[in-house]
Amino acid sequence: MSGDEFSGFAVPGDPDLEAPVDLDDPFDIGLAGRARRLDRHGASATRLDSRRWRADAARSDRWLLDGCGGPTLDLGCGPGRLVAALTERGVPALGVDTSARAIRQCRSRGALVLRRDVFGELPGEGRWHHVLLADGNLGIGGDPVALLNRSRRLIGSGGSVLVELSTGEPGLWRGPARLVGPGGSCGRWFPWAMVGAGAITEVAAAAGLVLHQLALHQLSLSRLSRRRRVFAELRPQA
Ligand SMILES: C[S@@+](CC[C@H](N)C(=O)[O-])C[C@H]1O[C@@H](n2cnc3c(N)ncnc32)[C@H](O)[C@@H]1O
Repeated sequence: MSGDEFSGFAVPGDPDLEAPVDLDDPFDIGLAGRARRLDRHGASATRLDSRRWRADAARSDRWLLDGCGGPTLDLGCGPGRLVAALTERGVPALGVDTSARAIRQCRSRGALVLRRDVFGELPGEGRWHHVLLADGNLGIGGDPVALLNRSRRLIGSGGSVLVELSTGEPGLWRGPARLVGPGGSCGRWFPWAMVGAGAITEVAAAAGLVLHQLALHQLSLSRLSRRRRVFAELRPQA
């Protein structure tokens, strides 16, 4: 990779960073750390810094990590920073992702990962203590109720689904989206959804889950930039 704005993440000789972006895989431009924006069909674009996907777990990931007290499945794990951090804590964790680049990145940081579709067959159905849907992954497949139904069937009755909510979308948005990099390069459109705090109770209920708690992590205290991450813990209805 040339010495551009991504050089902070470039590891000289890292074959993954040098691998060309596959614009046919809608997430590859993000997994290569190059996505700067998410375009939404018929809605405003949202800013995005996909370099976080490639980084190690950060302070703002702590709520998610602390919520995982037993075997955890990270759906759409990307480069696997959460799987690696849980494993380091002694919590059994497995990532699931369809992307070849994500699998390579997970393996190079020692995170256990399976190359599967989250809607396909997965090990330990009904026995996982926690399912993680981080960094907007409630959007996978474009139907959050279907994805939460799938997640509920993966956990036991005492388990939980830990999700990251959208801060750019107050309610529920569903539609085609695409990741855009510098210079306008972009991946193909894919079905996506965004769920904000105002919609999570209803979306969860439609999937047989109840909202147990909401949590907010302030990324910046500056009055000009109030960036934050919002999380929710969902549990199966009694
Ligand atoms: C928004 S990124 C999230 C990255 C990751 N959660 C992280 O924190 O770094 C979405 C990830 O989900 C994966 N993905 C999308 N659809 C998927 C599916 N149906 N099954 C498995 N993984 C999927 C993509 O390949 C991508 O790595």
